[in-house]
Amino acid sequence: MEIFESHCHLNDDQLYSKIDEVILRAKNAGVTKMVVVGWDYKTSLRAVEIAHTYDFIYAAVGFHPENVYDITKEELHEILNLCSDEKVVAIGEIGLDYYWTKEQEKREIQKELFIEQLKFANEKNMPVIIHNREAFEDCLKILRENRPVASGTMHCFSGSVEYLKDVLDLGLLIGLDGPVTFKNAKTPKEVADAVPLERLLLETDCPYLTPHPFRGTLNEPVNIRLILDQIAEIKGLSKKHIAEVTYDNACRLFRIK
Ligand code: NI
Repeated sequence: MEIFESHCHLNDDQLYSKIDEVILRAKNAGVTKMVVVGWDYKTSLRAVEIAHTYDFIYAAVGFHPENVYDITKEELHEILNLCSDEKVVAIGEIGLDYYWTKEQEKREIQKELFIEQLKFANEKNMPVIIHNREAFEDCLKILRENRPVASGTMHCFSGSVEYLKDVLDLGLLIGLDGPVTFKNAKTPKEVADAVPLERLLLETDCPYLTPHPFRGTLNEPVNIRLILDQIAEIKGLSKKHIAEVTYDNACRLFRIK
């Protein structure tokens, strides 16, 4: 069985400091492809460096909504232009985060930079990796006005089944991770049940969102097995089938042969 880990942060210091053992554990668990996602200047550069070190790893570059306040135009364009690198497969993670950001002024800056990065991705015909937290209405509005031409993924999808329909209508894929395994996670389980398999991606978002029963420890790509197990149980399908279809979905989205 081969598993595609579509969203991880091996560029985070906690994982980067022991990257070889982290990768070994993932490979032993059947993870044969991964996308390392940047969230700011330094981590986007590091994602590209990692992708060039390991042939089965790919990179995404961009500025997460919490990291858009102090960037210069030069930094923004230097990072986005990395999309011409052969190992860079998406612009991300980009989007809106209203959970951490309550000030309207800051939210306006997030919107501005989200739109700018979306427009850039569309110009370059690149898929996007979207981060959305408690900002669904604005996020959907922006996506409808700047529809991702090369598609993309709503990573760590955290909404209801109603919002799921809106995101699917935009032609996007849905990334599911640790929360689907949480004991009291009613909505993520409903979403896992409702999402069409051909629109699903598996991801860990490590080092965050460690699946049950390892909550409280550092998350790693190896834990994607727990997410796969849970989704297989919810959908009543074999793990092998889900692994295969989500693997193909990721290869198609990220244009990996
Ligand atoms: Ni992430």
